[in-house]
Order: sequence, then C-alpha cells, then structure tokens
Amino acid sequence: MKRHLLSTADLSRDDAVLILDTAEEIARLSARPIKKLPTLRGRTVVNLFFEDSTRTRTSFEVAAKRLSADVINFSAKGSSVSKGESLKDTALTLEAMGADAVVVRHSASGAAYRLANAGWTTSHVVNAGDGTHEHPTQALLDAFTMRRHLGGLEGRRVTIVGDVLHSRVARSNVRLLATLGAQVTLVAPPTLLPVGIGGWPCEVSYDLDSVVPASDAIMMLRVQRERMSGGFFPTEREYSRRYGLDAQRMAKLPEKAIVMHPGPMVRGMEISADVADSVRSVIVEQVANGVSVRMAVLYLLLSGNQSAIGPDIAENDNTEKKGAGA
Ligand code: NCD
Repeated sequence: MKRHLLSTADLSRDDAVLILDTAEEIARLSARPIKKLPTLRGRTVVNLFFEDSTRTRTSFEVAAKRLSADVINFSAKGSSVSKGESLKDTALTLEAMGADAVVVRHSASGAAYRLANAGWTTSHVVNAGDGTHEHPTQALLDAFTMRRHLGGLEGRRVTIVGDVLHSRVARSNVRLLATLGAQVTLVAPPTLLPVGIGGWPCEVSYDLDSVVPASDAIMMLRVQRERMSGGFFPTEREYSRRYGLDAQRMAKLPEKAIVMHPGPMVRGMEISADVADSVRSVIVEQVANGVSVRMAVLYLLLSGNQSAIGPDIAENDNTEKKGAGA
C-alpha cells in the first residue's frame, strides 16, 4: 500500500484484498466484549472536515478510538477556516501539532491530493471524500459488505443507480469493483452521467427495469441537490418512477441480491421506505462495516503496512484484556 489513501485507483488488487482481509480480522475482534485495541496508542489522528458529514466523520472517529489513537475533530464551522484560513495554513497548523494521520473531507475535488503532495504535512492522508471525485473508504466498506453477502466479488454483477455525475461514491466503487473483478453497470438519466463515462470500466444503461433482474447487488445513490445548479430531470416524481427502487422493482431482483445505499437516504426519492427497511437492505450493516474497514486502513497506514494484523494485534488485544480485567 502507498503512504496515503487518496483514491481507489491507487489500490492494487493485493492492496484491496489486504485491507478487506484485515477488516475481517478486526470485525472478529470487535465482536468481543472489549472492543478497544491498543495498537495506535500514542498516535494522533485528525479528522479534518470542511464539508458536512455525520456517518463518515463519526465512523473515522470511532475507528481511531477503537485503536486507542488520540482523535482531534476539526470541522470548518467554528474554526478559523470560517475566518478565511486556507487549506494550506490549516495543514501547517495541524502539522505543527504533530498529527500522524489526517482524514480529510473537502468540497473541492483534488483537495486530498493537494494536502498529501504539496509538502505541507508529513502525515498520512486519508481521503474521506473530495468534491465529486473519490471516497475510497466508502467503496472499501461497500466491497467488504458485498463480499460478505455474495461470497466474493469476482464476476458478481453490481448495479449502481442515480446521480453518478455528482457521486464520489460511484467513482470510487467503479474503480475498486473493477479491480476486484466485479461487473458494474451504472444506471442514470443521461443528464446525470459524467462526460467521458465511456472510458470507465463498466457498462451504462438508462433502463433500470432491464438491469434489475441481472443484479447481485444494487446500490442506490442520493440525488445531490447541493451540487446542482440547474434542472437535471423534470420532476422528483418522474425521477422516482424511472430511477427509484420501490417494492415492485425490488421484487424483480434475484433471490439473494442485496440492496445498498451509502447514506444519507432520501426516502421516497431514490429508495422507498419499505425497501430501505426490508430484509434485503444491508444499509445499516454498511455503517457498521465502515468502522472495521476504517480501522483496517488506519492500522495499515500507521503501523507501517504490516502484511497481516494477526499476531501483533491479537497479542496486544490480550494484554489489554488482562489489564482491563485486573
Ligand atoms: C456520501 C458522500 O458524502 O459522498 N455519503 C457518505 O459518505 N456516506 C454520499 C452522499 O452524500 O449522498
């Protein structure tokens, strides 16, 4: 693995499998009564969030804390950023305070690259979403969830539906899933597909009904109103009718297929409430898996890319348990 996690394009198949396998081991350890591991004791992880987020920020915070790292949450609101401080000055300030890893979310595509490569910081940088570009840990937790349910990703058919144009989740997923051997189909109205989509390693369709029966997993995307300036579709009703997942459409999925959503959901728009709460929905599991996957990423980056979490973390885990019991 590289020094930073900026894009799923940077992950080889071996890197991705290492992260997913490490997350599996961590998930097993997290099922024990004492969830905390001492692995990153004394290390500092900064959550640098310039854009609103609930689950991703909390998930990284829980992940770092479960590994015993010190966590500093830095959000743009209420900080000097709202007084006009730049990404550079913020980075230099955090660097001076001795951050080992910086988890960054920013509305500008490329912000995480800039932070990692401009020489402002020596920390490991993890991209937690940059503009409409990438969100690699989301794709990793999605792959983790699919692998668990579908028994592997090679040859599995994954359908991603909705606002692909504004979705860093879709971009990261397409790349990672292609690396892992899955077949991806994107479904969206033509207005919500990016220019150059022909070069992506996936199929494209405008007709959800024809793709649903051939899907092992279907991932619904939120329509990102906050990133839109004009009208991308006639009405919400029209959008839901053609590109939303309701019970009737879900019934056409193969028997073991799963329904996914990265959150936040707009119930009634891209997904109906009954589908979101149905037995096929793994949306809540995705959130839980996010913690294990982010623990694996932080662990692998900060502990020098050890090839397996096994003996090291397991040993520490015992020490912690003995200590806690004493
Ligand atoms: C997504 C994001 O922020 O890119 N959410 C997330 O990280 N769980 C998708 C979205 O905002 O719709």
